[in-house]
Amino acid sequence: MAGWLKRRYGLTLDAATQVLPVNGSREALFALTQVVIDPTRAQPTVISPNPFYQVYEGAALLAGAEPYYVPSDPARNFASDWDSVPEDVWARTQLLFVCSPGNPTGAVMPLDEWRRLFELSERHGFVIASDECYSEIYFRDEPPLGSLEAAAQLGRGDFRNLVAFTSLSKRSNVPGMRSGFVAGDADILKQFLLYRTYHGSAMGLAVQAASMAAWNDEAHVVANRALYREKFAQVTPLLAQVLDVSLPDAGFYLWAGVRGTCGGSETEFSRQLLAQYNVTVLPGSYLARDAAGGNPGTGRVRMALVADTAECLEAAQRIVQFVQSQPH
Ligand SMILES: Cc1ncc(COP(=O)(O)O)c(C=O)c1O
Repeated sequence: MAGWLKRRYGLTLDAATQVLPVNGSREALFALTQVVIDPTRAQPTVISPNPFYQVYEGAALLAGAEPYYVPSDPARNFASDWDSVPEDVWARTQLLFVCSPGNPTGAVMPLDEWRRLFELSERHGFVIASDECYSEIYFRDEPPLGSLEAAAQLGRGDFRNLVAFTSLSKRSNVPGMRSGFVAGDADILKQFLLYRTYHGSAMGLAVQAASMAAWNDEAHVVANRALYREKFAQVTPLLAQVLDVSLPDAGFYLWAGVRGTCGGSETEFSRQLLAQYNVTVLPGSYLARDAAGGNPGTGRVRMALVADTAECLEAAQRIVQFVQSQPH
């Protein structure tokens, strides 16, 4: 894992203190939250993007913290509107989740935003949990910037208050294997390792061996990425005829606006599409929460392009037929 960090980001981390294997990033996102949050402090707060991977919220609530949702801005490639967070919320924040490349938006966070978040973390003492499990499936020339890479570029080579989460699930297409790792701040990882001895989450030996093989091989990752690129290149223009959708920076989702179809209701769109055309999409509002400015998933659906190209194309054609069959 340390070797992969070196090859992918040019970073040298101490495998003994700055890297820990985890059984997929989901359990680690949840468990690290339990370690980081101090519920005895006043109004412990966890900042989450909105829309977001649902584990962030459950992890915060079960740790005794209150989630605070920061909307993504469609006008700025779905960047999180960090400026909208009031000063008193930053002051009580103990943990901030970042998801880059984002689920569901596919957006990659640029260096300037990292600079801003590191400054805020420095000022208010919160931990940044950076969820990067889609980092190897990308559609731009440049691979997505990682949080550890950004920290090193900004002179924060000790990764203080920063933990990155990565995973083989998407990179190597093995979600059932349950293998990933966390890397970053050695002090936090020391506490996390102690917690994990109770949590009982050591990785089995067979999975360790398979994981080493996967992290040490890039050929299958390049091939996997090529399959996704081909699939998105075929499906996106087709769907763009009837939905507000464009090629994301990375990830394997389309975060599509339904325009006026079904009166602009994403839940109605999803329900009728499933009932009439047997295509499953997720109503965007289910992935987001009502917060200042409303629910940013309203009028959107998330489509996961994980089936093979032929099946995704077939589904996309059915979506086009569905929308065209609707009264206007
Ligand atoms: C944003 C995000 N983070 C983390 C995960 C968890 O993946 P895993 O536990 O398989 O590493 C997922 C899975 O869908 C995800 O979408």
